[in-house]
Amino acid sequence: MDIDGARKRIEKLKEEITFHNRQYYQLDSPTITDAEYDRLMAELISLEESYPELVAEDSPTRRVGAPPLDKFETVLHTEQMLSLSNVNSPEEFREFNDRVKRLLKTDGDIEYVGEPKLDGLAVELIYRDGVFALGSTRGDGVSGENVTVNLRTIKSIPLSLLGSERNPVPSLLEVRGEVFIGVEDFRALNSSREENGQPPFANPRNAAAGSLRQLDSSITAGRPLDFFCYGVGAVDGASFNTQSDMLEAFKSWGLKVNDRYSLLTGADDAIRYHVEMEAMRDSLPYEIDGVVIKVNDFSLQRRLGSTSSAPRWAAAYKFAPRTAETKVLDIVVNVGRTGVLTPTALLEPVRLSGVTVSRASLHNQDEIERKDIRVGDRVVVERAGEVIPYVVRSMKESRDGSEVQFKMPKACPVCGGHVVKLEGEVAYRCINASCPAKLKEGLFHFASKGTMDIDGLGIKLIGQLVDRGLVRNFSDLFRITREEWSGLERMADKSADNILESIESSKEVRLDRFIHALGIRHVGAHLASVLAYEFGELASLMRADKDGLTAIEGIGEEVAQSVVEFFAEKKNLDLIESLKNAGVVVKGSEKPKDGPLSGKRFVITGTLDSMSRSEAEERITALGGKSSSSVSKNTDYLVLGENPGSKLDKARELGVEVISEEDLIKILEV
Ligand code: IVH
Repeated sequence: MDIDGARKRIEKLKEEITFHNRQYYQLDSPTITDAEYDRLMAELISLEESYPELVAEDSPTRRVGAPPLDKFETVLHTEQMLSLSNVNSPEEFREFNDRVKRLLKTDGDIEYVGEPKLDGLAVELIYRDGVFALGSTRGDGVSGENVTVNLRTIKSIPLSLLGSERNPVPSLLEVRGEVFIGVEDFRALNSSREENGQPPFANPRNAAAGSLRQLDSSITAGRPLDFFCYGVGAVDGASFNTQSDMLEAFKSWGLKVNDRYSLLTGADDAIRYHVEMEAMRDSLPYEIDGVVIKVNDFSLQRRLGSTSSAPRWAAAYKFAPRTAETKVLDIVVNVGRTGVLTPTALLEPVRLSGVTVSRASLHNQDEIERKDIRVGDRVVVERAGEVIPYVVRSMKESRDGSEVQFKMPKACPVCGGHVVKLEGEVAYRCINASCPAKLKEGLFHFASKGTMDIDGLGIKLIGQLVDRGLVRNFSDLFRITREEWSGLERMADKSADNILESIESSKEVRLDRFIHALGIRHVGAHLASVLAYEFGELASLMRADKDGLTAIEGIGEEVAQSVVEFFAEKKNLDLIESLKNAGVVVKGSEKPKDGPLSGKRFVITGTLDSMSRSEAEERITALGGKSSSSVSKNTDYLVLGENPGSKLDKARELGVEVISEEDLIKILEV
């Protein structure tokens, strides 16, 4: 392919990938499979490698991988990013509405737009000629921090805007919105942090802020950040008359807008919207702390103007706080899958935004010390994002001296095993490998949907199995008889049959799921797939050494160490053997290592006639070969398509065998 061909193809791929990103990350309705998407992306990466001069600012490949920064630069906002004034009750809202009417000298109902008030952090994105050029945090409203590379990693932020006849792309658009983390993602992020001995985030807001403000953007890229936009700064080349028109224009440009916004007429309607959204609060996939009510008409907004800190045309109409006061009756300790001891406060039951709360996580010893929380203290508890609330602070002023300080037990409260604090971690862990608490949590993880997927095997059943001594390790699960299942509490014959059936069908398992199921420290679903793909079969992974592991992209020292340690442990090897003996069959990854092309490395240059490049690559891998995007001394064949690029020169230079498309077809037909 010549440079013009490459330019065209890159443009086409960019367009397609951007379209599919939008379908997937913004509209939640993908139209192609992940594998097809990966192929488009791989082709773009390979083309951009061959033609670095064609890599565009808004290329979808540029979402990751910027080098870490020493510090963030300061960015002056063209127009100040104001804050909002709060109202906390229908009465206060009516006062706000009356003031708006008074200032506008009108008696009629004001038209408002109501929007959910996302609890994240405000940012500004600047698009120049439709291309995302600069992104910053709100900071103090006058200047913020340049977090462009971090914002690039957020998949729901388009790197370029879509133009249409009705809404052509403006030459300048400063769009404002909220970066946040969804509730489910927040829980998953925190539980993996706790398992890894890192301090969890207190709420989704802190998690979003902490994730966005990372000097190393590859850390941000690994965090599940999301984005909605709701406002503008400077604009050139577009104009809107109302907030609702603007939101619709945003949507047409491919920017993500919260579709729970609503057009409202007058104060009653706005108050009704507030009530409705508050009722919906717990079922929304993101945390909101109120609604924002804005005068819809921009000419009225201009007439109302702003104070030094907030516009007079908008109000943050907050929900009842999700905090309450209660007393710590006791502090108990739970033991998790990796043996982490988590202290939990038992509370005097208290109503908190609609539910009765009697427990709260205290996370870890450091946290308890930092907040100085004692048994007997009166405390403020908060529910934000997490189902389990947490203790915000203790009310030291109401102590009477009878309060008792908490000390982490030296022995595991479940098995009596040794408890240690590992260096560099905040967590204390039970180090007894056969601690029943660890076993129960480990089994729960082993049986979960993303791992062995044993339908119907929940934590309660697992508890019974372990307590009755029916299961001492994962492989025992496959040896429980029908009689033993039926003998468990609340287990009808039908359920026993069902569970036996799901255990049977779980026995054939994909390598990545199996690796994940083993519960190797630091190896979650993503890294398990990386390892499965790289090694293709369990036996080679088990033999891998630290150097081999760290050579893989995405695998660092810590993970490599943990994998090597896991497979060096005799107990774990015995477990794998015993699982195999129980009938568990681990299916290798889709990439067979053995085939007629095993060990052969192909590089394709130019366009092929009879098939697409990705099809050719797929067929090569299906036969055990490897295909890569750049020629090196390890390349066995360079396949020459039409309009070859610089790879041909490189191949000649290195003495790599150059073959034609016909030769390749013959090879593939072996
Ligand atoms: S409008 C001048 N709309 O709330 C208008 N803000 O308390 C300023 N926020 O800093 C913002 N959702 O971080 C607006 N739909 C929404 C919002 C929203 C969340 C945040 C934003 C702002 C803070 C003000």
